[in-house]
Amino acid sequence: MSNNNIQSILQETRIFEPSDEFIAQANIKATDVALMKQKAEEDYTGFWGDLAKEHIDWQTPFTTILDDSKAPHYQWFSDGRLNVSYNCLDRHIADKGDKTAIIFEGEPGDIRKISYKELLADVSQFANALKAQGVGKGDRVIIYLPMVAEGVVAMQACARIGAIHSVVFGGFSAEALKDRANDAEAKIIITADGGNRGGKPVELKKAVDAALDAGCPSVEKVIVLQRTNHGVDMQEGRDIWWHDAINGQSTECEPEWVDAEHPLFLLYTSGSTGKPKGIQHSSAGYLLQAIITNKWVFDQKASDTFWCTADIGWITGHTYVAYGPLALGTTQLIYEGAPTVPDSGRFWKICQDHQVSIFYTAPTAIRALMRFGDDVPNSYDLSKLRLLGTVGEPINPEAWMWYHNVIGQEKCPIMDTWWQTETGGHMIAPLPGITALKPGSCTHALPGIIADVVDKEGNSIENANEGGFLVIKKPFPSMLRTIWNDDSRYAETYWPMFDGKYYLAGDSAYIDEDGYFWIMGRIDDVLNVSGHRLGTMEVESALVAHPSVTEAAVVGKPHEVKGEAIVAFITCKGDRPTGDKADKMIEELRAWVAKEIGPIAKPDDIRFADGLPKTRSGKIMRRLLRAIAKGEEITQDTSTLENEAVVEQLQGKA
Ligand code: PRX
Repeated sequence: MSNNNIQSILQETRIFEPSDEFIAQANIKATDVALMKQKAEEDYTGFWGDLAKEHIDWQTPFTTILDDSKAPHYQWFSDGRLNVSYNCLDRHIADKGDKTAIIFEGEPGDIRKISYKELLADVSQFANALKAQGVGKGDRVIIYLPMVAEGVVAMQACARIGAIHSVVFGGFSAEALKDRANDAEAKIIITADGGNRGGKPVELKKAVDAALDAGCPSVEKVIVLQRTNHGVDMQEGRDIWWHDAINGQSTECEPEWVDAEHPLFLLYTSGSTGKPKGIQHSSAGYLLQAIITNKWVFDQKASDTFWCTADIGWITGHTYVAYGPLALGTTQLIYEGAPTVPDSGRFWKICQDHQVSIFYTAPTAIRALMRFGDDVPNSYDLSKLRLLGTVGEPINPEAWMWYHNVIGQEKCPIMDTWWQTETGGHMIAPLPGITALKPGSCTHALPGIIADVVDKEGNSIENANEGGFLVIKKPFPSMLRTIWNDDSRYAETYWPMFDGKYYLAGDSAYIDEDGYFWIMGRIDDVLNVSGHRLGTMEVESALVAHPSVTEAAVVGKPHEVKGEAIVAFITCKGDRPTGDKADKMIEELRAWVAKEIGPIAKPDDIRFADGLPKTRSGKIMRRLLRAIAKGEEITQDTSTLENEAVVEQLQGKA
């Protein structure tokens, strides 16, 4: 973290104003925002207190808004009591009991609609089943399920009884599952025989068996949902089928009222070291950001059908699937499978068939689907779409324009939402009826979020377009409370600078002359080439703007003269270039980057593969790429890769 002078070179000048039609119906108006920002400035804690009173149903109202006596473990609304599941379900029953809460579509095409009343009954019954298996308030529960409605049921059931869930993404290996279960000292694992993904079953139960064989001493029971029916081993006394566990249990379950600060969940995420961190979230503060961002940023209304494509194994699947939309009483869609089964039109067919009006996905998915051409989405009726969102990485302007023109048919505002597992909900994002959009920028911080870009002394960077550290200068309700079992890592990772005053996001960013935020990349992914600091994502964005390039990942490798040299790993549209074709393409791309950014950003080394090494969540494995770039032996676990063969291609062995 030595850089305080990260250069930023990518420029985007197009601006998209909200339409009059959108402005007229938006949940949040410019006048509201002006008032809110003024309130946040004059009375910061009062601002949050008002929102928490307005949006959350409390069993015991809070009298303290912010308690900073244990900083950086800030506490919000701490003498209030609530139940998150009550706020997501019970409070809607009187007027929305028969409204559809979840439309589930399985990869094989099975469809199930669940009303709010039915969901409350399912959650309550499963909550009673958990209690019968000995799970109580504060116990940790691992959820390792496919993307099915029961995943939400399991999460909500934990919340209902005050158990702390830790969802592990179904694409993680047995080894990763074991590490997480042990770190959390989980009492129980909820899984399925399998899930349907890419036309075949994902072997979830087998992975649980392997994790438990390898040693998870705290785990007493395994509840197994029957989903694929492909035949799995059940261990007598330890494993119980979901349908047997709920059999005979009441469909009513009084919610466990918990303190506002009671941990709602842990979610493990990667840090700069190899050991994943158990990010711990609170109940009330987290819920509040989930509610206000679904309302403000996604503009959810009674008439909408919302679809967030994220798996519940990620924070996006928590805030924008399992909790936020339900807390607002929205109808949402959940899809189990891959976007290309049976063909690359699946997402667009789902949008058409279920009349999806708000669609939220990741730039990597947009780029992958863009590859199949405009005819695919154009053959579906996407006219119900009225708002689009992206998350997880900066969206390159080319993908943004395609999303805007082809999917949004030029009428849908695109919400580029910047946030993190640690922040629980959107932090920097447009407001759809207010913010003029610039492709590639997440625009402005939301009301109450005091974001800035600072140098390493913590001083605001005054010059427009000059990069620095992205920080949040005041504690906010939805921030992580700690790293499970590791308070010191929490303090060191997030509060190392500025006398522990600011939350350090771990990203580099800059603010342009109009006050727009542009995320440049992780601070650990910043390159120093001949004394010039470059965000790897900027180089990638330039590369993917080339008409032949689908995806690019850029890492640094040590270079005698320049300090660091740029290595680019690339997938192309059509066949992977080899031989002379590859040489020609390399020259073309170097010239292209020189043109897009400048000669200093020209990659020294360019390698092609059929795909980039990614985790099943779609995150590019940069540490692996850095090892390949340096020609090191690969020692890290590649078992979670979608396509292990690409590693050899990138090493030049295949
Ligand atoms: O680097 C930022 C990037 O993703 C990181 C957070 O990753 P994770 O905790 O896995 O959460 C992803 C879903 C919220 C950030 O530090 N990131 C996230 N959203 C954006 C982004 N980078 C640029 N633009 C975004 N909209």
